[in-house]
Amino acid sequence: MGSVGIRRFARCKKVQLHGHGHYLTVCAQTVYYGRVMKIISISRFCGGLALLLLTGAGLIVALAQTRPVPSPQLASRDVNARVEALLKQMTLEEKIGQLVQYSTGFATGPSASNLTYDELVAKGQVGSMLNVVGAEKTNHYQHIAMEKSRLHIPIIFGLDVIHGHRTTFPVPLAVAASWDAEAAETVAHMSAVEARADGIPWVFSPMVDIARDPRWGRIIESNGEDPYLSSAMARAWVKGYQQGDLSKRDSVAVSVKHFAAYGAAIAGRDYNATDMSDITLRQVYLKPYHAAVEAGAATLMSSFNSINGIPATANPFTLTQILRKEWGFEGFVVSDWGAVGELRNHSIGDGPTVARRALEAGVDMDMEGNLYGTVIAAQVRSGKIPESVVDEAARRILRVKFALGLFDHPYTDAGPAYEATPGKRSTARRVADETMVLLKNDPVEGVGVLLPLAAKAKKVALIGPMADDAQDLLGAWTVTGNPKDVITLKTELAKRLGDRLLYAEGCGLLSGEDENVLKGVSFAGSAAATQLLAIPDDEKTIAEAAEIAGKADVAILALGESTNWMEGEASSRTTLGFTGSQQHLLEAVVATGKPVILVVVAGRPLELKWASEHVPAILEAWSPGIEAGPAVADILFGDVNPSGKLPASFPRAVGQEPLYYAQMPTGRPAHGDLGHLPRNAEEKFVSRYLDEENSALYPFGWGLSYTRFSYSLPTITRGEAPLREVLAEDKPVAAVGVDVKNTGSVAGTEVVQLYLRNTNASVEQPVRELKGFARVALAPGETKHVTFPLGFDELNFYNAEVKRTVEPTTYTIWVGGSSLATAETSLRVVE
Ligand code: NOJ
Repeated sequence: MGSVGIRRFARCKKVQLHGHGHYLTVCAQTVYYGRVMKIISISRFCGGLALLLLTGAGLIVALAQTRPVPSPQLASRDVNARVEALLKQMTLEEKIGQLVQYSTGFATGPSASNLTYDELVAKGQVGSMLNVVGAEKTNHYQHIAMEKSRLHIPIIFGLDVIHGHRTTFPVPLAVAASWDAEAAETVAHMSAVEARADGIPWVFSPMVDIARDPRWGRIIESNGEDPYLSSAMARAWVKGYQQGDLSKRDSVAVSVKHFAAYGAAIAGRDYNATDMSDITLRQVYLKPYHAAVEAGAATLMSSFNSINGIPATANPFTLTQILRKEWGFEGFVVSDWGAVGELRNHSIGDGPTVARRALEAGVDMDMEGNLYGTVIAAQVRSGKIPESVVDEAARRILRVKFALGLFDHPYTDAGPAYEATPGKRSTARRVADETMVLLKNDPVEGVGVLLPLAAKAKKVALIGPMADDAQDLLGAWTVTGNPKDVITLKTELAKRLGDRLLYAEGCGLLSGEDENVLKGVSFAGSAAATQLLAIPDDEKTIAEAAEIAGKADVAILALGESTNWMEGEASSRTTLGFTGSQQHLLEAVVATGKPVILVVVAGRPLELKWASEHVPAILEAWSPGIEAGPAVADILFGDVNPSGKLPASFPRAVGQEPLYYAQMPTGRPAHGDLGHLPRNAEEKFVSRYLDEENSALYPFGWGLSYTRFSYSLPTITRGEAPLREVLAEDKPVAAVGVDVKNTGSVAGTEVVQLYLRNTNASVEQPVRELKGFARVALAPGETKHVTFPLGFDELNFYNAEVKRTVEPTTYTIWVGGSSLATAETSLRVVE
């Protein structure tokens, strides 16, 4: 969808470097992704190519030296003067009131406190509410706060806006699969506009936890396994929501979550502890949060897990030392739901103690914990907690309220009812198109490749529980999304194929009785199973589906994972296959001998080994949102050439998890074919499994196209760079270049990926790490030259003292279309 972070000038562009906070002025046809990179169409720039290769990063004309504060608005004199003036008038109780947040609508946690909120708001004892949506409901409480409370301080309303507010887009993991930061920015911006119109100035998004284990259901909300990709996406989400100006009436403040390292839950079990070295914490897990803070994030949410034995919600090291002191964060931190109270379960103290520990560590607001409001005041009065600690937390919260303009515009005008207009639909469809990942498209004997589907395909059998399931196509974790807005796959294919479409559900997403029970239970945990439907006879419906497949020329199977209770929060699994009887359905349809196209609808990498061995074409469609049917059909019929790439590795077996490409080396690496038992000591005493390959089934960065791309050998503007130049940190020291050609007969977009390995460091380094990427659109036969800069940001690592540094070494550099890229060059850093 284009490029991010570019400001256009007459013939040059002023560009903010991702991850730098610097501006570059560049006079060339330049597109920036991740950090800085140039794409030059060879046809239009052949004369300049030699020059470009010679000068490399020399096209950079100006580079500002200073790092700005993360959010100038929160640091502004005006905002802070208003905050201080107000603070001076506040009683202790009123200040503590600002630190209290209640869920006054539905519950998004185990249970909500049931208090008389009108009265508490009138007394100034509630600074924030969540789960109240819409002008009418938010205005109700806001009027009480503004008119009845002594100091007329507005409430800040927060909500989980995860992949769209009213217009539901693909889930965040899918958006990451687009490798298109501008797509994330678009989703965030549209969500901001809609949320604000609904009285919500604060969203609990983006979730930027690195997720390397799909047993953890919350991988669906993340950007996947890689810190570089996740950081690029984090910046884009923040930019789209906040638009660099919180006071805009259609901007919302973000809450970047869950700080920190929530995604590393041991064994993939939600809410579990995490335990990792300080180097891994900083080199991998903290990076996306830092990127979001540098992009100006106004708030963060602390996480449920402990980090190396200290709960994240009472962790002064992450919340104060790193976040405030090192990163200069001036916004506020809200706890996750009930997490302050749950500190008691971590056995670090009783109620008053854990509340004090959380507050002193840097958690400013207590979400649905009911502790700050009840146990802090007495501790301040007894001298146990200095009042300055309360002042500071209230100050941070008020800063955000002022910056958002809530004091000046506290209310929301009721607008027209939401409508999924053609404009909104077309944006949702464009984003969904980009998120689809074609995993496999092997030729079938006598037929050729199945995708794109030939228009002449006579009869198509559409089978599977995902084909017409609006709720599940919408995706997990939507508070205000409406399944009624979803165009399902069945609806869209019926429109395109008419009576050439045959359909069978085949089976449910779950099995028998379980399915019926879960259908009746809502996420909020309040509703009990109400529907007692007849238990479906899967064997019968599967046999019927196979019969229908037999009557068609090709079968499309839409399978996946139920979003209700099986994806997102509190949805960890020990197996990663299709749920219920779906695998049985797949096998029955494959057994008919008809060519099968598998469309996977899920919010996590599923285990697709059997399918990869028996099904010729597999499309990963994730949970695509309201335009699910049209977007999947765009790819199936070739109206859109797939361009998505995996943001997380797909395992061969769940036992490989956590599985990610950027692994550390081992002294006993395993090479070659591991698909058999070891036959000698050399094959035995290596780092391997006895019963499975080490590698991913579909690796990070993987994704096919309907065209082919060829890569030249990468070049580098210089093979050697002096260490002092790299350490100067102010500009790239070299640029890697590659020619990418579309050698097929249709237009396509390739995500060009740059990987590095530091081959000689004082602390061991991953076998490869992503350090740049670009979406490059190519017409048939077209070649473009893509360059990636290398400087301190790409080359540094954390040493044994946990300090970022670069040492003399050689970097192996690969460029290609996935993390398997083999075309290589190198850069030596010398004393
Ligand atoms: C708990 C979840 O962990 C968090 O992501 C969400 O924002 C809060 N509940 C509020 O609903």
